[in-house]
Amino acid sequence: MNCEIKRVTQDDLDQLQQISRQTFSETFSAKNSAEDMKKYLEEELAVEKLTAELSDQNSEFYFATVDNRVVGYLKVNSGLAQTELKDDNGLEIERIYVLKEYHGKRVGQLLYDHAIHMARQMKAGYVWLGVWEENPRAIHFYKKNGFVEFDKHVFKLGDDEQTDIMMKLHL
Ligand SMILES: CC(C)(COP(=O)(O)OP(=O)(O)OC[C@H]1O[C@@H](n2cnc3c(N)ncnc32)[C@H](O)[C@@H]1OP(=O)(O)O)[C@@H](O)C(=O)NCCC(=O)NCCS
Repeated sequence: MNCEIKRVTQDDLDQLQQISRQTFSETFSAKNSAEDMKKYLEEELAVEKLTAELSDQNSEFYFATVDNRVVGYLKVNSGLAQTELKDDNGLEIERIYVLKEYHGKRVGQLLYDHAIHMARQMKAGYVWLGVWEENPRAIHFYKKNGFVEFDKHVFKLGDDEQTDIMMKLHL
């Protein structure tokens, strides 16, 4: 399988919204109410929101493609674009999402490796992220890549307040 990583631009907005909504639904629908899901998909993954995120100098999105089909994506934030900490020395992996049918096929690992490559390029001291405590696959994935829990924070999905585990990897 030949998987490629490419930077996402404003021209890719429709594809970005499509992969964002599909992977978010696949990941979280089973454990959340339809109402909370709908709210998140409509508000947080709206065209206006994604457009603003894409134009932020401190955020970068990447697609993973297989035979030109987008099968996953990555969003990383530095500086003030980070959702918390906002430390110049850090890089946040805010989103790493792969279509279910491509889990366990190294697509997630390739996107992840790209994030680490970027962190090293910008000479970041550490990479951090927040992951829902009820997402065991992702937690296992980060742990096997060396991430360690350092805190917890509250994340709102629709009207539901959930706990995210915050994890960090020193470079
Ligand atoms: C997170 C993600 C990018 C990782 O990519 P992936 O291809 O699934 O990763 P891998 O298969 O290499 O690693 C997953 C690991 O979790 C393990 N795993 C799977 N289900 C598990 C479960 N229920 N509990 C614990 N571990 C589990 C797998 O066995 C594998 O570990 P191993 O390599 O030691 O066998 C991908 O699963 C994904 O996109 N998930 C949906 C979106 C998401 O949750 N994103 C993260 C939001 S913070």
